[in-house]
Amino acid sequence: MRPTIRDVLRAARRRIAPVSQSAGLDAHILLSQVLGVERAYLLVYPNHTLTADQQNRFEKLVERCAAGEPLAYILGRRGFYDREFIVTPAVLIPRPETELLLEAALVFVKGKPDSTVVDVGTGSGALAVTLAAHCPAAAVYAVDISPAALAVAKRNAAANEVAERVTFFEGDLLVPLLERGVQIDVIMANLPYVASDDLPHLAVTRYEPRLALDGGADGLDLVRRLLGQAAAALNPGGLVLLEIGADQGAAVEALARAAFPQAGVEVLPDYAGLDRIVRIANP
Ligand SMILES: C[S@@+](CC[C@H](N)C(=O)[O-])C[C@H]1O[C@@H](n2cnc3c(N)ncnc32)[C@H](O)[C@@H]1O
Repeated sequence: MRPTIRDVLRAARRRIAPVSQSAGLDAHILLSQVLGVERAYLLVYPNHTLTADQQNRFEKLVERCAAGEPLAYILGRRGFYDREFIVTPAVLIPRPETELLLEAALVFVKGKPDSTVVDVGTGSGALAVTLAAHCPAAAVYAVDISPAALAVAKRNAAANEVAERVTFFEGDLLVPLLERGVQIDVIMANLPYVASDDLPHLAVTRYEPRLALDGGADGLDLVRRLLGQAAAALNPGGLVLLEIGADQGAAVEALARAAFPQAGVEVLPDYAGLDRIVRIANP
């Protein structure tokens, strides 16, 4: 007898539970993908049976999930702010905390709609693409040192119909913009900020690219270099927004004050109340 939706969901939940706090939801999402249906269908038709092919495909996805592979890589997509992004193992999976950085940039650009905005270390393009979609008059640049990441970001720009309004550069931090003499109003940067010695202890490094995580000895190599470059390119009245690790608030605040002695510097918390964003407002 062919297994029902209820049967396979129950078995999958048990397999995934050791590695996920949302095993039931994960199982639903994977089965919806295999059957090409909305999740509600699984609840309405629990006695519907699976074909052998559907069962095989579902079991393969459950296997990957039970091995700890992030759901976003299995599905090839992840929601960020108000849209969906293609993700591959070449890019960091966009995190909800990063939406706070985006929101701070959106507030600024609403007040100066023709801003020039740069997303440094764009990865999937989540920040650059979402900002471009919300701010049609802004000039948006996105830089990454990884050609594979840039290819994903470009696909996301096209999928969100902003490909013509985001200029992509492969390069090191702000160098491509400095070379072209671009003056910037907003720098958004979620750069790698994990200390190299901490990487082996983190589960994320099993699947997410080291290039997106490794911030050098104290985690701040890239942030330090970016701040060194930023003063030359940031317009008066401009803004720098940096995502940081929860234990880096004081250190990055000090770096920011050294690089921008006249600026207003604030460390903003994330949803959990942890230091997450450093906001530098040029006078
Ligand atoms: C933490 S990920 C952030 C991705 C995306 N902005 C997000 O918030 O989801 C950091 C990104 O910085 C890129 N990166 C690392 N070193 C870089 C450098 N020197 N210059 C430009 N990009 C760099 C990585 O390839 C990676 O895509």
